[in-house]
Amino acid sequence: MQPVGTVICTDRGPTTSEFTFVVTSPEIVPVRRGQLVQLKTEDGLMLAVVQEVMMTNRFYYHAEAVKELERSGRMLSSIFPCDRWDMLIATAKPIGVLREEGFDKITFPPSPGEKVYLAERNVLSRFFGFDEENGLEIGFMRYHDVPVKLNMTRLLQKHLAILAMSGSGKSYLATVLLEEVLAREKSEGRIFTLVVDVHGEYTALSQYGGWELAYTVSVIKGSYVQFATPILTERQLAMFQPDMSPVQVRELGRLLSEVRKAREDSYSLSDVISFLEGDEKVNPRTKEALLGWLYELDETQLFGVDENPHLPDVAKPGRAVVLDLSDILSLRKKQMIVAYILQRLFDLRRRSLIPPSLVILEEAHQFCPEAKQELALSKSVIEAIAREGRKFHFSLCLISQRPVRLATSVLSQANTHIILRVTNPNDLKAIELSSEMITRETLGMIADLPVGEALIVGSAVNAPLFIKVRRKKASSSIYEETMEEAAKRFEAGSTHQPA
Ligand SMILES: Nc1ncnc2c1ncn2[C@@H]1O[C@H](COP(=O)(O)OP(=O)(O)O)[C@@H](O)[C@H]1O
Ligand SMILES: [Mg+2]
Repeated sequence: MQPVGTVICTDRGPTTSEFTFVVTSPEIVPVRRGQLVQLKTEDGLMLAVVQEVMMTNRFYYHAEAVKELERSGRMLSSIFPCDRWDMLIATAKPIGVLREEGFDKITFPPSPGEKVYLAERNVLSRFFGFDEENGLEIGFMRYHDVPVKLNMTRLLQKHLAILAMSGSGKSYLATVLLEEVLAREKSEGRIFTLVVDVHGEYTALSQYGGWELAYTVSVIKGSYVQFATPILTERQLAMFQPDMSPVQVRELGRLLSEVRKAREDSYSLSDVISFLEGDEKVNPRTKEALLGWLYELDETQLFGVDENPHLPDVAKPGRAVVLDLSDILSLRKKQMIVAYILQRLFDLRRRSLIPPSLVILEEAHQFCPEAKQELALSKSVIEAIAREGRKFHFSLCLISQRPVRLATSVLSQANTHIILRVTNPNDLKAIELSSEMITRETLGMIADLPVGEALIVGSAVNAPLFIKVRRKKASSSIYEETMEEAAKRFEAGSTHQPA
């Protein structure tokens, strides 16, 4: 292996926090800002990130001489062999040393004269903690062509958050993640995935994702969803009507047990309402209030006798369900659907009736907002999963372009954050606060990220890591159509989504 350069002495180092090296043959082994290099030290193999690359040439040091010569019509380069004196000097920041036991903090600087090499794949892989055999390959390391294969447990078990401004590639990354999860073999451990798709962006996966995805992904429209009233307790019903009083909830409980007996577990909400209308025992004022709450719930047309879709049947290993909420306009109804389905899946998972699962929650701030005054019917369920899901292998992938508006009680439980481009100072602040691993320096780099590049911090990796998200295998969704394509499709009268 050819070295990139050699460590030199400067006024500032080498120290444990910075060293400088001269690039020996840039035409053969070039060096770029952001690249990782390795070199031997007393403590073991040191890994460092290139912070700056400086070009210098001593012939151009004296402004006066350069000016006079150039004014006289002669080029400096025609007199002296200047270009042979171009010099590349790079500064690098050590990030760890590799020992037998793994990576460790740096306690000793590198020696002047030490040869510097580009970091090798196996060193990088060990340093960041990739899972070469069984990991989810969501992208590759910039400048290194090293695939980023994240261990599924480390990435998902303690929940994941994908945060960035809109248009920066969050949904794209989630699709890549979904592809990776669905591509797992039975022997590697397969999970079930639910995508809560607020804009109908993932629906094309089942049609245009190639036959593998068409087989594994099914789309369920929000308007098709129906709750099984008989499995709902009074508390769960009260979750949809948070202003119900404790007395009303208690009465509802009594009523439900009577209906249950009389109807042998086969009833809808309108049956509960008829029972209540004929009930003489209940206090008239409580009855009136309760009827009001129940009528309002029944108007949503979500409460049936049976469950649609029957969740134990759709939540299978290696499969995904896209819950397309784009046809539901009311936020209240969207939250109710999400609350019901998540609660039900979590319950099934706790009883080991469905496989370990992942819920990809788009627009997470709509479903678990931070602000107390916002409507939040699904918040308590999501909080419960955020707190306890880990024990039952029930994971959340929260996606949001407004991390400030996302409940901190939930976001703080997400142990891995993948951050794409964010420029809003308030959102940057929220991101900085939500993760101890993010330094000022890194924060600045987040604002400069191009679309499709991301920073991973937290339990999935041993150290913060910048990646380029890989290309997805599925073809594009309707949201990636150009304006020209959409216009042509409109005139052609096609309502179909593009391939
Ligand atoms: N990794 C990537 N590679 C190529 N194109 C990407 C990548 N990430 C995002 N894009 C493109 O950028 C656009 C916005 O991505 P999207 O995932 O919809 O953003 P977001 O969900 O953050 O609003 C899309 O047109 C998508 O094709
Ligand atoms: Mg999106």
